Amino acid sequence: MCPFTKQLRLKYAVSLLRLAGEPETDTKKMNNALYESKLSGLERVSQGKVRDIYAVDDNHLLIVTTDRLSAFDVILPDPIPGKGAVLTQLSNFWFKRTTGIVPNHLTGLDLESVISNASELAALSDRAIIVKRLNPLPVEAVVRGYLIGSGWKDYQATGEVCGIALPAGLEMAAQLPQPIFTPATKAAVGDHDENIDFARMSDMIGTELAERVREMSILVYLHGAEYALERGIIIADTKFEFGLDNEGQLYLIDEVLTPDSSRFWPAELYTTGISPPSFDKQFVRDHLETLAWDKRAPGPKLPVEVINKTAEKYQQALELLTA
Ligand SMILES: Nc1ncnc2c1ncn2[C@@H]1O[C@H](COP(=O)(O)OP(=O)(O)O)[C@@H](O)[C@H]1O
Ligand SMILES: [Mg+2]
Repeated sequence: MCPFTKQLRLKYAVSLLRLAGEPETDTKKMNNALYESKLSGLERVSQGKVRDIYAVDDNHLLIVTTDRLSAFDVILPDPIPGKGAVLTQLSNFWFKRTTGIVPNHLTGLDLESVISNASELAALSDRAIIVKRLNPLPVEAVVRGYLIGSGWKDYQATGEVCGIALPAGLEMAAQLPQPIFTPATKAAVGDHDENIDFARMSDMIGTELAERVREMSILVYLHGAEYALERGIIIADTKFEFGLDNEGQLYLIDEVLTPDSSRFWPAELYTTGISPPSFDKQFVRDHLETLAWDKRAPGPKLPVEVINKTAEKYQQALELLTA
């Protein structure tokens, strides 16, 4: 099929998606969005693009997933209402399903045990968790089932992704013969991650640990991708983070198989030769592409329709996967 026809098919499908997703505008929800958390009594030890991290004690952290949205590694000024709660619920869902594959940082400790202020507790109950305080590995454990993003760029330039040779003649967004593990270094805030090959990762953390991380990552991806596909979502690729405890035990940490850490494509709209629409951030990306923004901080304000549609898509992903 010629690419032009594919473009047209996709345009049609995307317009269907828009119509199907046409929401009644709900500005009330926006007032409940959480851009930044405040917790009295606990020390905030760090703040990522999306999460605020508090120390509970030497062995535990409290992680609050806010509604901040980043695009092109820039935190946008508008939060997406409910996004943090969706990410928390979805990650918890996957953490529980994958304990047989790899231990994770969940503790099951009640928030009540560390948050004494009732209104703070109510505000954070669906988006805060108490986790084991671990030493994050300095690598992003990326698994790709499909050829897109930086993987596609590398493949076009070299025929490889992170040193892994792939068959010739693959199209953009093609499914790979099997998922590949393509690690990246963790960039500082505002920087982009850098793809590395497995040998470099082994130099950084040791071969044995690198092999375990690769194996666990591929197993969790395969489990999630198969499950999601039955529910109409292709998980094209994803990024995991792992941490070690003081005894050297490996844990899955951070977030798992969410629309923020992965590319979710509606299976119905999947096609190769172009970049398929992503489930959640498509409205934001479409909008940002109409602007003359140089992709540097500060990011632009978003129209309310874009915010609402994005919130709705996150919610829909959660429902499709967990209902
Ligand atoms: N169990 C854990 N122990 C220690 N650090 C953790 C744990 N879980 C997640 N983290 C760290 O918390 C941060 C999460 O914040 P986030 O906003 O997602 O950061 P980023 O901007 O790097 O994506 C990450 O730096 C991650 O490595
Ligand atoms: Mg993160």
